[in-house]
This record gives sequence, structure tokens and C-alpha cells, in this order.
Amino acid sequence: MEKRISIGVPKETGRGETRVAATPDSVKRLAKYGFDINVEEGAGLSAGFRDEDYDAAGAKIVSNRDVWANPLVTKVAPPTEHESSILQSGAMIVSLLEPYRNAHLLERFAKEKVDALALEAIPRTSRAQAMDVLSSQAGIAGYRAVLEAAQHYGRFFPMMMTSAGSAKATKVTVLGAGVAGLQAIATARKLGATVEAYDVRPETREQILSLGAKPIEIQLEESGSGTGGYAKELSDDSKRKIQDALDEKLSKSDIIISTANVPGRKAPLLISESVVANMRCGSVIVDMATPSGGNCALSKPDEVIDYRGVKIVGHTNYPAMMATDSSSFFARNLVSLFDLFVKPRDSGEPTFIVNLEDDIIEASMLVHQGILRLKGK
Ligand code: NAI
Repeated sequence: MEKRISIGVPKETGRGETRVAATPDSVKRLAKYGFDINVEEGAGLSAGFRDEDYDAAGAKIVSNRDVWANPLVTKVAPPTEHESSILQSGAMIVSLLEPYRNAHLLERFAKEKVDALALEAIPRTSRAQAMDVLSSQAGIAGYRAVLEAAQHYGRFFPMMMTSAGSAKATKVTVLGAGVAGLQAIATARKLGATVEAYDVRPETREQILSLGAKPIEIQLEESGSGTGGYAKELSDDSKRKIQDALDEKLSKSDIIISTANVPGRKAPLLISESVVANMRCGSVIVDMATPSGGNCALSKPDEVIDYRGVKIVGHTNYPAMMATDSSSFFARNLVSLFDLFVKPRDSGEPTFIVNLEDDIIEASMLVHQGILRLKGK
């Protein structure tokens, strides 16, 4: 199937969503493929990009109605019901889609013959690395989460010796050493904290050490490694062992950054109410897994809870708090992704070809030509 394409970049409408799916830099790169890029008026403002910057880069600034009339629409957050309903039949949407939560949208797309590519379904392989928005955004989130912890914490991170007395280095524990966790470790170390980290995947040990942190070792009868650099669901026995081993360490932490996650599952519960009750007054827990149910029993989405002087931070969109870099990385990921669809690259009329034999397109194209391709959970 071949299509001549112009790309629409709408202004995000979700609460607190400040990112945008294209930047002036990505517009220039996409324009080199020979496509027309239509950016909705004001779409980049909350991410630090003005209409005139897009215009200078070669984009056309269009109205909300016109941006949704493009045959290819790309955005950050899943489209709303209304946005989904105004996509043209035969168009394609490229976005985070939260497919299991939004199965009804995908069914609508199949019925209306709208193709849908879910950015979260891009596999975590070396070839797909440059297109992996989950990784680029999680890295930023891990960094931002540590800054958030520092903001709520009333002490220094590094050891401090002053004429007015000294302060001990802050003890940070990071749970889950995937993309967000490793960036959180690196950031907390740069700020001068002492850091310990735990992950169920044994292969993270070396990465934790290489960032100057101490791995917490818990002997299990099984490995927590699943496929594609992700964890798998553990047995109840392993979960109990982890809990017993972690409780004391967590109670003594000044700051916990929790990122433990198993794809497609509710986040594992690792920080119980009794652990929080035993933490020192003034400690901070940043539960990054709050969007998928939370690693802490007390965290609430987009709230900061104060439990007997311990702050539990449950923000669900850290990348939106660093919208300029998040948008730049997101947009660069999209440029790499679109490169897979553009043929020919150097000469002739560029066309947009959906080649399902490409493993990245095969995995992420959840609706194509009226067929729902979402695999089971
Ligand atoms: P990831 O899958 O790369 O890392 C998760 C890590 O948790 C893996 O290394 C895994 O082995 C580990 N893990 C799984 N079960 C565990 C357990 N029981 N104990 C210890 N470790 C365990 O995921 P990524 O991209 O680093 O994201 C981490 C979490 O942060 C996810 O829940 C994600 O949804 C969330 N996130 C939240 C954001 C926010 O704004 N709140 C933004 C970006 C990500």
C-alpha cells in the first residue's frame, strides 16, 4: 500500500500535557523526506517552540480543524474520543495509544479504516532503539523524579561540612533498574547521594555498579528476566522473599525512587504502609510506577501525600515537566520511525509505505486496513 503524505501535528489537549510531537528541528528533518508538515497553531508553545520557529523550519501553521484533516497525524498522548472521531477514513495516527486501556478506540479505528501505530508497542531491540519513545521519555522521567525528591526533601544530598556543622550524605534507594531507574541512580549520584538499587533482573547488577551505586542482592530460586530487557512476573514465594529482604533497607532510606514494573501487569507492591510508617520523618518516596498502580501502597496519581511526615509523590507525567527536552527526544524518535516508511529516500516522489514485513512496523501497527492486530495481554 502506498500513500502520498502530509503530516498533521496537533496541540496536545490532555490535562498537564505540555509536550508536542514535532519540533522545528524535526520539521526540518521530516521536510527533507519531501513531506508537508502542518502544525496546529500554538502546538509547541508549552514546550518552548513558537509558531514562527516552526514556520521558519518549513512547517505550515494550521487550525485545529485542518490539522486533523491530514492523512498522517502524529501526537504524544492517545487521542480523545472526539479527536478519534474526526480522523479521516484512510488516515493513520501515530501516537502513544495505551492500547489495552483504549481497546474501544482501536475497534473504532478498525471500523473507520484508520490505521493506528502505537508507539509503546515498538519493540525494545537495538534496531528500534532510536525510535523507542518509552525509553527516551523514561530516561527523562528518572532524572526529573530525583529532582522532585530533592525538592520535597529538607536536607542536602551530598555530605556537607560547614562552619555551622556537618550533614550526612542522603541515602537513596532505587527500586527497579530499567531505563528510568538507571537514570535516577545516575542523577542521585551526581547530586552526591549514596545510592543502593534493587532489580529482579540479575543482569542489572553490573549497570548499577558502573553508576557508582551498590546493588542490593536477594537470592531467588528464579530469575526475574523476561524478554526484550523487561522483567517477568515472579512467583508468590519470590515476591515474599523480596519483601522480607527489602523492608528493613527501605525503612532506613531517606529517599526511595521506585520504578519497578512488569509490562502489561499491575506494578509490584514493594513499599507497604508499615515500611512508610517506619521511615524517618522528612523522608521522601517518589513512586514512578503510580500510573500502573504504584510500588507504594499509599501513592495516589498526581498527588503528594504526607503520611506522618513522609512525603509520597505520585506524579504521572514527569516528561511533561521537562517538555522541551522530552519533546525534542520524542520528535527525534518519530523522525527515525518515519524513516522506515519513506520510499524512495533520495529521488522521485516520496511515498509512505506500510511494510508489515518489517518487524518494528509489524509489532507496532495495531490497526491496519480495517484489521485489528492487537495481540492478547
Ligand atoms: P523498565 O521496564 O525499563 O524498568 C522497570 C524495571 O523494574 C525493570 O528493570 C524490571 O526488571 C524491574 N522490576 C520488575 N519487577 C521488580 C520487582 N519486583 N522488584 C524490583 N525490580 C523490579 O521500565 P521504565 O521505562 O524504566 O519505567 C519504569 C516505571 O516508570 C514504569 O512503571 C513506567 O510506567 C513508569 N514511568 C513513569 C513515568 C511518570 O511520569 N510517572 C514516566 C515514565 C515511566
